[in-house]
Amino acid sequence: MSNEKKRLTTASGAPVGDNQNSITAGSRGPVLIQDVHLLEKLAHFNRERVPERVVHAKGAGAHGYFEVTNDLSKYTKAHFLSEVGKRTPMFARFSTVAGELGSAETVRDPRGFALKFYTEEGNYDLVGNNTPIFFIQDAIKFPDFIHTQKRNPKTNLKDPNMTWDFWSLSPESLHQVTYLHGDRGIPATLRHMNGYGSHTFKWVNDQGEPSWVKYHFIAEQGVKALEESVATEIAGDNPDYHTEDLFNSIDSGDFPAWKVYVQIMPFEDAKSYKWDPFDVTKTWSKNDYPRIELGRMVLNRNPENYFAEVEQAAFSPGNFVPGIEASPDKMLQGRLFGYSDAHRYRIGANHQQLPINRPINEAKSYQRDGQMRVDNNGGGSVNYEPNSFDGPREDTPSKINPFEVYGEADSVVYENDDHFTQAGDLYRLMSPDEKDRLIQAVVNHMEPVERDDIKLRQIEHFYKADPDYGARVAAGLGLSVPEEVK
Ligand code: HEM
Repeated sequence: MSNEKKRLTTASGAPVGDNQNSITAGSRGPVLIQDVHLLEKLAHFNRERVPERVVHAKGAGAHGYFEVTNDLSKYTKAHFLSEVGKRTPMFARFSTVAGELGSAETVRDPRGFALKFYTEEGNYDLVGNNTPIFFIQDAIKFPDFIHTQKRNPKTNLKDPNMTWDFWSLSPESLHQVTYLHGDRGIPATLRHMNGYGSHTFKWVNDQGEPSWVKYHFIAEQGVKALEESVATEIAGDNPDYHTEDLFNSIDSGDFPAWKVYVQIMPFEDAKSYKWDPFDVTKTWSKNDYPRIELGRMVLNRNPENYFAEVEQAAFSPGNFVPGIEASPDKMLQGRLFGYSDAHRYRIGANHQQLPINRPINEAKSYQRDGQMRVDNNGGGSVNYEPNSFDGPREDTPSKINPFEVYGEADSVVYENDDHFTQAGDLYRLMSPDEKDRLIQAVVNHMEPVERDDIKLRQIEHFYKADPDYGARVAAGLGLSVPEEVK
């Protein structure tokens, strides 16, 4: 008998006699169907891939912790934020948006900044980006927007015609388009970028008093960018440059960390603030609502297994804990559906049971059965509610904070919307060098667009943000701009 500890087995645990030679009829003979080990090996191999994420397919992840450094419990009853020094284990995944699973990382694209906090009251997920804003304001536009970021259905190529056609017809994108073509569009590493919750969320304290919040994760490593030409070169040399940097830095004990801040808006201010505070294309001024320290996030452990921990990670903006709730942001509301639905398709109805997604507290629901149920499925316990058998009961203090709604049900545009002031402010904030790089990046990206009317429509938006911005892009593209566009 061979050493049992080292013995190779089938997935069912039976010892494998030969893993190098299939069973054949004679030494040259055809392969016998009775070689079930061979059949299992080939069949399982065919099923190794799960669908890649429809967006944010390429990513890297790491484990770490979040520690409270400032007591903000007067604003939220979230238990994991209840006292200074409290640490919560967490997992982070950073990603590009448009590229496929094997695509190059040093491209111009927003970066996903997805966080899972394993709290004692269930998992809290904050699924943000490295930009505080987004391209669109309503979830109904998301599939169309993403089609323009992916491949042309005919050529199967990335297509700036689609991208700029959509952006020029969706001026709400201008603020994020400006962000994206600025220095932050290509982070030097995943450690050198900030993260943002982007949406407005609601915090509720133990008195039931609500406030609105926005999250900011500021990289202690500083924010650094790659120049476009350098990034393009790296993309060819090492498409996995960012994944490698994150892995190696954690492996060598150089743990990246972020200081975490919140902007807090008193609940009533939302009615009269100069911007719609639930519009994800806008920021709140830091003069109106300064950043308040909350804590610190440290990533200090690499995954042991990429597929198990990073590919199977399922982050959902709908994973809240008591004390943190959704705001009426139309994008966020759509996302509350989109993610868990993607997870059910991508990794199954019981994806919450996978070790990376499992909460640290015991999940006690009346959900039963379904593919790949891997716990004891509730054993013999009661599987309906209400019941007379002491099954789990609802926890009234965890009910959502009630809120008023008003108005007619209709498909409505944002009222008095201004897509240009904040984009122009961002442009005016940039140093002369930064402006040069922004203009060059926009020009490089727009140059291949075939139709002048699309370019001019976009240039009109740049003009509205700042005449200098519009004039410089037009000059870079060698276009003369009709008076009515300026
Ligand atoms: C991933 C939908 C807007 C950040 C995804 C996925 C879907 C999706 C289906 C793949 C999930 C998976 O397979 O695990 C949407 C929809 C949006 C939207 C419908 C608009 C209504 C946004 C916004 C942000 C964002 C505004 C950031 C502020 C992310 C991130 C990931 C992601 C970070 C990757 C999560 C991970 O690492 O697994 N999105 N998204 N998305 N999205 Fe969105």
